[in-house]
Amino acid sequence: MSNNSSSEKNKIVFNGKELKLETLSGSVGPSVVDIRSLYSNLGIFTYDPGYGSTGSCESAITYIDGEKGVLLHRGYPIDQLANKSSFLEVAYLLLNGELPKKPEKDEFENAITFHTMVHEQLINFYRGFRRDAHPMAIMVGVVGALSAFYPDSTNINDPYERLVSSRRLIAKIPTIAAMAYKYSLGQPFNYPQNNLSYAENFLHMCFSVPAEKYNINPIIANAMDKILILHADHEQNASTSTVRISGSSGANPFACIAAGIASLWGPAHGGANEAVLKMLSEIGTVDRIGEFVGKAKDKNDPFRLFGFGHRVYKNYDPRAAVMRVSCHEVLELLGVKNDPLLEIAMELEKIALNDEYFIEKKLYPNVDFYSGIILKAMGFPTDMFTVLFAVARTVGWVAQWNEMITDPVQRIGRPRQLYTGEIKRDFVNLDKR
Ligand code: CMC
Repeated sequence: MSNNSSSEKNKIVFNGKELKLETLSGSVGPSVVDIRSLYSNLGIFTYDPGYGSTGSCESAITYIDGEKGVLLHRGYPIDQLANKSSFLEVAYLLLNGELPKKPEKDEFENAITFHTMVHEQLINFYRGFRRDAHPMAIMVGVVGALSAFYPDSTNINDPYERLVSSRRLIAKIPTIAAMAYKYSLGQPFNYPQNNLSYAENFLHMCFSVPAEKYNINPIIANAMDKILILHADHEQNASTSTVRISGSSGANPFACIAAGIASLWGPAHGGANEAVLKMLSEIGTVDRIGEFVGKAKDKNDPFRLFGFGHRVYKNYDPRAAVMRVSCHEVLELLGVKNDPLLEIAMELEKIALNDEYFIEKKLYPNVDFYSGIILKAMGFPTDMFTVLFAVARTVGWVAQWNEMITDPVQRIGRPRQLYTGEIKRDFVNLDKR
């Protein structure tokens, strides 16, 4: 445990056998019971589907207090980072634990900027996909293939190779994402431009065409930078846990991040921003909102309002609070007033925030509710929304992967189970079944 931790012993009695278990406290947040010796001493496992009561690792990167709606990266509140910092500075913070001093910031930004190009041969890889392939499918494939293009940075036991692969991943992911978008449009790929910021360069690679000059709107670039910061890390969520568990076997970082992208794709996780917009289209008109809110409240109907609720936040999602302001600013500044989907979104937000069911269950709009709306206003098609989430979260995945690799207590992730299948029986030949 870290320097700030303390411990005490509590006892558990099972079948008359007693075991003293240590309770470990971190710097803040609930304590954890160290159950590592439970099975070897008492012969029992714990049962926690969805891991709601399980701490899977020790981490010093991100802290969430879901009851109070707090999100801290290395101790810094997310709203301060979103409003005062930049994405690459937050990336440095997540990776290194401290905000960079000027020379460190310059070195890091320079290193990321000069790794943004991808191996030219990678372009051929894209050509193997159908034009209508979902860009997340392309992301899973291309990021997974990076280890074939950069085998010189796959030795996880070499700190220098880990540094290079980490920087390559953070630098190349916007290029790979923009290429997935351009491929779907049938437009030529844009090379990165080193005079632009991370967010500006991503916008340039997505929206610029060779036939005319692309002027980056500073409001959009600023909103993009905020979206990236707000999605950068979120402690042990499904995709991050996937990255950690993949990496725990010693798999290379490119393969691990591809696994994280696959997990992020699901509509209960990063796919929610895309699902929000699909849901808004399905609602269609403001007068049908009541019908859909009714469906979401109906116990017999599996329908859920996408963009509402969170496993950890039982108070306002602090990322959504920043994103909400940014969303209204972007819509105002772009003069987006008459978009029917945005009109439905704003009305749905109002209705849900005042509805007894949502208030009682503490279901507030989450970050994905607003990010989808901003991204649409910026001109991204819905199937790119989760890709943007993946671009931002790569930093968190890489930081968490590095923390795991250097954790001395790290072992291969290997949960056990509560077996409810058939017990041993003899094989029956086909003619006797
Ligand atoms: N609409 C209607 N009811 C809901 C919703 C919703 N969006 N979310 C939760 N509930 C209800 C749910 O039916 C349950 O009711 P009851 O107690 O009567 O059975 C109660 O609220 C608690 O729900 P839960 O399923 O136990 O909560 P969970 O922690 O397992 O799920 C969640 C969290 C995010 C998967 C869920 O809220 C959800 O499916 N939301 C919609 C998808 C979404 O927006 N996901 C993005 C999350 S934020 C970005 C990220 O981290 O990836």
